[in-house]
Amino acid sequence: MRSATDGHEPRRTILDVTQLRNDFPILTRRVHGKPLIYLDNAATSQKPRCVIEREACYYAESNANIHRGIHCLSQEATDAYEAARDSVKRFINAGRREEIVFVRGTTEAVNLVAASYGQRLKPGDEILITGMEHHSNIVPWQLLCARSGAVLRVVAINDAGGLDMESFEQQLGPYTKLVALTHISNALGTVNPVRQMIDRAHAHGAIVLVDGAQAVPHLTVDVQALDCDFYAFSGHKLYGPTGTGVLYGKAALLDSMPPWQGGGDMIRQVTFARSTWNDLPYKFEAGTPDIAGSIALGTAIGYLESIGLDAIAAHEHDLLTQATARAADVPGLRLIGTAREKAGILSFVLDDVHAHDVGTILDSEGVAVRTGHHCAMPVMERFGVPATVRASFALYNTPGEVDALFAALAKVREVFG
Ligand SMILES: Cc1ncc(COP(=O)(O)O)c(C=O)c1O
Repeated sequence: MRSATDGHEPRRTILDVTQLRNDFPILTRRVHGKPLIYLDNAATSQKPRCVIEREACYYAESNANIHRGIHCLSQEATDAYEAARDSVKRFINAGRREEIVFVRGTTEAVNLVAASYGQRLKPGDEILITGMEHHSNIVPWQLLCARSGAVLRVVAINDAGGLDMESFEQQLGPYTKLVALTHISNALGTVNPVRQMIDRAHAHGAIVLVDGAQAVPHLTVDVQALDCDFYAFSGHKLYGPTGTGVLYGKAALLDSMPPWQGGGDMIRQVTFARSTWNDLPYKFEAGTPDIAGSIALGTAIGYLESIGLDAIAAHEHDLLTQATARAADVPGLRLIGTAREKAGILSFVLDDVHAHDVGTILDSEGVAVRTGHHCAMPVMERFGVPATVRASFALYNTPGEVDALFAALAKVREVFG
């Protein structure tokens, strides 16, 4: 199993995890009288103090609406908000700041593209997704198909939880207008060969949206090197606030798209006869956004950059390797997702014990994992399971916490035999 670097080995910088943990106030919490062991990072990650304080500082010192005020506070708020956009641009190596649209999260980013770009789809056009998408990257396309008469096609998954590349090739064709695929599967941990897939899609004239919700916290993303047309991610999985996120889109493409929501800030001029639109990216940012949240997302990005994504990827890879080896010794444990390229996600089922029962016992031991379908019901169907237990790692997790997970799993075995 290799690391989540989509093709190259990460630089082996040892993280000082003990020191880093001090940055996260919540990690000193106890639950049910036990130290919190937080392994639900794929759902949302915990926030470092600098992010929490940046958001509070905005409200305490600079709270004002952006872009419309000439007074000092409004200008401070606008500057901080636009500086956060610059941080995002640098973080994903976008070519231009106009290509960074602030949204509520990955779900909203995908819906934006479906609602706006989707207006050019016609009956018989095809949208190609993969069998391992989060519902957020399935349902907006189903809604678009219902509106437009386009057809949804799906790339199959192999038994290891990788994409079947033959199925991908077979389904690309002259009618494929858009390919929407996840960079890393939240249910399986698989890292997809997105660069290669984008090239193939472009060769067929299709544009590509990459769902990067699970990728940006774990590997270096370079949207120019990927050559993706759209890249979507959420702030809250990236150690930033909930309700924040980003849609990256190539400027020419965004420019050619109609707005999807009307309101303040997205207009140039309004009359009752007609309205005209603001420049990018504001054309897609109607209404007052989560100003504090986006500013604090910029802080989260700065925090991650100061640690280094390569070092984080290497650390999480070590935890995954340790956990995968330990899992092999647990009687009746079946891993769901064993692809060669994986990020720090361990999804599994235990014979005869429902995932929710496993999760409840783990919780009583202070171990927070996610149980259920992980908003990826088709993945559950593909592997013939109703639900899995998912442990997912972040930069602050330790080998001792992996041991604690398996000690808690031993308790499950004691209870259920
Ligand atoms: C791969 C993937 N895509 C999309 C989403 C949706 O993200 P959000 O709920 O932040 O919009 C998630 C969240 O778990 C995810 O893991």
